[in-house]
Amino acid sequence: MAVARCLCALLALAVAPAPATAQMTVDLTSRESIKAAAKLIAANLFTYYHGDEPGQTPGILPGPPPAGPYYWWEGGAMWGTMVDYWHYTGDTTYNSKTEHALTFQANSPANNFMPPNWTASLGNDDQGFWGMSAMLAAETTFPDPPPDKPQWLMLAQGVFNTQAARWDMGECGGGLRWQVPPTNNGYDYKNAIANGILFNTAARLARYTDNATYAAWADKTWHWMVNVGYIDHEFNIYDGGHAPKNCTDIDLAQFSYTAGIFIQGLGFMYNYTNGNPEWEARLRGVTKRTIEFFFPDGVAHERACELDDRIQCTTDMLSFKGYLHRFMAQSVQVAPIMRPVIMPVLKASAAGAASACLPDGTCGFRWNAGRYDGLTGAGQQMNALGALTSLLVEEEVTKLPVTNATGGTSLGNAAGGGDPSVERVDKPITAADRAGAGILTMMSLAGMTGSFAWMSTKFGERR
Ligand SMILES: *[C@@H]1O[C@H](CO)[C@@H](O)[C@H](O)[C@H]1NC(C)=O
Ligand SMILES: *[C@@H]1O[C@H](CO)[C@@H](O)[C@H](O)[C@H]1NC(C)=O
Ligand SMILES: *[C@@H]1O[C@H](CO)[C@@H](O)[C@H](O)[C@H]1NC(C)=O
Ligand SMILES: *[C@@H]1O[C@H](CO)[C@@H](O)[C@H](O)[C@H]1NC(C)=O
Ligand SMILES: *[C@@H]1O[C@H](CO)[C@@H](O)[C@H](O)[C@H]1NC(C)=O
Repeated sequence: MAVARCLCALLALAVAPAPATAQMTVDLTSRESIKAAAKLIAANLFTYYHGDEPGQTPGILPGPPPAGPYYWWEGGAMWGTMVDYWHYTGDTTYNSKTEHALTFQANSPANNFMPPNWTASLGNDDQGFWGMSAMLAAETTFPDPPPDKPQWLMLAQGVFNTQAARWDMGECGGGLRWQVPPTNNGYDYKNAIANGILFNTAARLARYTDNATYAAWADKTWHWMVNVGYIDHEFNIYDGGHAPKNCTDIDLAQFSYTAGIFIQGLGFMYNYTNGNPEWEARLRGVTKRTIEFFFPDGVAHERACELDDRIQCTTDMLSFKGYLHRFMAQSVQVAPIMRPVIMPVLKASAAGAASACLPDGTCGFRWNAGRYDGLTGAGQQMNALGALTSLLVEEEVTKLPVTNATGGTSLGNAAGGGDPSVERVDKPITAADRAGAGILTMMSLAGMTGSFAWMSTKFGERR
């Protein structure tokens, strides 16, 4: 309480002296005020979405490059953001679009989020983001689709099954490769985000279904990450390494969404195991390091590309901070011991996010400047929306994630998902296709630091 009140004061101070660059005013102690701000930010987010207009493809943001800046996965991430928006605010405005988007891209009847249209940029992480949004819909009892459509739980299971089948013992002692089709650039890379999403999905399915097979997969994936050195003894989580090098050429870049995905998955394993001390230590360890690293001055920074003197983030990276907030908040729901550690951080950071928005709900990227920086996009809107709505996790009316035994209504199919392999791509692969979701392999190919200018010209980023 004290923390939030003092943040309001800070916000007010920041607003007062400069009416020319007006900021959105939001009282972070008031559910109604947060809801009103979130409504404006969501409306602005939807100015980027045209998937339900004639001739457009439901579910996707404009893209992939060069058709527009957004890869397929970011649509999946957006619908998860909107499931949380509904869950926290009760505003049903976007529910039918959300349901339509998630079911349209599901690739029925396999129900595995591997639609042929997007094979050329199909990473396990791209697929997995859609899967995590479906899992969230099951956990929050987002309205179930009609019976002739795929159901939330079966979609998450379809993603899990196809990914588990792709676990690759060839090199590195196991692990998921980044890309799915062997012809995609990045197939030789095994990375933290792909394996983190498998860990996250397995942990949540374990809790939802009380099926120990999923928990065993989460356990296995966690230990693989540690064994291969992608998670170090201080709980830094590094980007990945190449299979031909037995994953020893570790790219030390760290991204906030990867940390968020592990914190959420760890919360679920902590809960599933009824507070097992080993999982608690891991949860506390990753959370502590994440707060130190990604919130250096109290607000979230995308450290690898949000530099003091310039922003070098790709369109993908411009959206990561929102997932970090949302996933840390859901971890608090299943691991209440983390509330005193996580919530003050999310509150301070959300105040920064709000200070970067204009009164009409247009938001910038930097959260530590105390003003709108003019760098706009769907990712920035999702960041601010995620930061504000996540504060409502503490409201009494906010429901806890359900399980199949405690109010869950979503139908599953433990054997679903169909063929996990995609052997060939039916159209010529362009450089833009190859970049895929994380674009992270491109970065490691280019030699990490200092390579962003090359990337942003090469891949036609709009900024
Ligand atoms: C695949 O692309 C075709 C042609 O653009 C489009 O009509 C269809 O809706 C797309 N399907 C998906 C799942 O994106
Ligand atoms: C490859 O890496 C794995 C995991 O770190 C390790 O267990 C294995 O011994 C390594 N293999 C070789 C040939 O170095
Ligand atoms: C969920 O619970 C129902 C009974 O309420 C049961 O029939 C169903 O098999 C369960 N599903 C899973 C995935 O455990
Ligand atoms: C538990 O999950 C595994 C892995 O998907 C599946 O093979 C098995 O059938 C599930 N068991 C039950 C009882 O649903
Ligand atoms: C698991 O989550 C529930 C909320 O769904 C919570 O009530 C319970 O305390 C959690 N368990 C632990 C060990 O924190």
